Amino acid sequence: MDISLFADLIKNSSGLTVSESKFGHLTSAVKARMDHHGLTSHNQYLMTLRNDREEAKHLIDLVTINESYFFREVAHFNVAVNRVFPGLRSGATAGRIQLLSAGCAGGEEPYSLLIALVERYGYAVLERVTVTGIDIDRRTIQKAREGAYTRHSFRGVEEALRDKYFVRESENRFSVVVDLRNQVEFVEVNLLELPECYTNARFDLIFYRNVSIYFDPDVQRMVFRKLAEGLRDGGHLFMSSAETMLHDLGYLELAKIDDVFCFRKTVTPAPSRRGPRYATPERQPVRRRSQAATQPPSLSGDHNNAAVVACRLAGDDLESGERAYGDAVEKVKRREYEAALTSLESLPQTHPFAARARCLAAGIAINRGRLDDGRAICEAVIADDPWVLESHLLLALVSRLEGDVVEAVKKFRSAVYIDQACWIAHYYLGEMYEEQGDVTAARREYAIVVKLLEKDNGDNRNYAVLFALSFPLQEVMQMCRRRIAAM
Ligand SMILES: C[S@@+](CC[C@H](N)C(=O)[O-])C[C@H]1O[C@@H](n2cnc3c(N)ncnc32)[C@H](O)[C@@H]1O
Repeated sequence: MDISLFADLIKNSSGLTVSESKFGHLTSAVKARMDHHGLTSHNQYLMTLRNDREEAKHLIDLVTINESYFFREVAHFNVAVNRVFPGLRSGATAGRIQLLSAGCAGGEEPYSLLIALVERYGYAVLERVTVTGIDIDRRTIQKAREGAYTRHSFRGVEEALRDKYFVRESENRFSVVVDLRNQVEFVEVNLLELPECYTNARFDLIFYRNVSIYFDPDVQRMVFRKLAEGLRDGGHLFMSSAETMLHDLGYLELAKIDDVFCFRKTVTPAPSRRGPRYATPERQPVRRRSQAATQPPSLSGDHNNAAVVACRLAGDDLESGERAYGDAVEKVKRREYEAALTSLESLPQTHPFAARARCLAAGIAINRGRLDDGRAICEAVIADDPWVLESHLLLALVSRLEGDVVEAVKKFRSAVYIDQACWIAHYYLGEMYEEQGDVTAARREYAIVVKLLEKDNGDNRNYAVLFALSFPLQEVMQMCRRRIAAM
């Protein structure tokens, strides 16, 4: 059995990455579910999973990691309750203050928040707050609703505090008091498919901790952006300290309160500390062509433009420009974005690599979550020269990140129109067709990727860098082969 097929399926539906070290556990989970259904063929079970969302949920339930305990990273609760909450109470927020624990596991996190609030403000505070806990795992949601825990969940909590808010049912079972239990609504929700009621700027405080670590960067960005949309102006979002810096993407302002880093949604957009430094339309006014640049570009487009301007540069400038671009690419690979932008500054604007450099800056903006900045740069590049492949790719990526599949497909097709050998466009097309259930088209695209990468592993145009993909191309090939085999 190729267990990675099951891992891929779980990743596509829940965002969870099952690493190879966990393949043993996944194999046992698959076996347990197959036994449950009396199945002996892995392929048959794979087919079942593809066609039956409920069964996929059962398998996902078995692989989620629900480890949690009360007052985990206690400083977050102190800051949220003592420093953030008073601001919410006296602020413009009308009605109840809305708190969300995203990836709440067995409820330890939302109950800790409530206990901390009651400790500080008394039971009257319950009249003023609504607490929601969401998690993909149904078993854990059920456990949270029951609100019963063993001693293990209270490590790090003083007994006196535990006994104040929990009723001892037996030697090793403690149930949360009814007043608190009734205060939290627990809902089974997949963060990858957040319903609108979670993204409509309703929450004052979101705890989203120790969940994103199981997601890959694309999913991390997507989920974080959605949760950021769910915050009200002035609202705060807490992640574990290991996760916070990875999410300083520009969607929310990073705040430091009493040595704790968290995110804040600013009422007015923060000044452009994160504004694009390089090749923004403002800094580099575009030379619009008289005819509008549309996609795909017209075949009569002047795509030798770069070569023409190159003649005006002295040889030294050409070389140092190429070096600057190469430097920037290396820095992007190491995710040293500020340093990469600085390298790009030294590249003359008439250099043949200038458009690609602007696209690299756009890629950096997009990877930091500043989709509008990235889009603006790409559109300006296309207005100058409709043949710059990278700008079409990045515009397609922005549409994909925004969930606009139709537009994303259209733009990736434009990229393929410009360069049929652009494997990354074929790869994303494959993914999107697969998501739409168009197996034939998906298989065709994946097969093209395999063929292209077998021929040329050079990736000399650094598409992967633009897209912040860090895995080797060999792995992309394997992934495509696996997907084709599983269809
Ligand atoms: C390690 S626990 C974290 C619990 C708690 N937030 C904490 O910090 O102690 C991670 C939780 O995220 C949930 N989770 C993972 N992927 C999810 C998804 N796509 N949607 C919703 N919840 C998810 C898991 O089921 C698990 O309960």
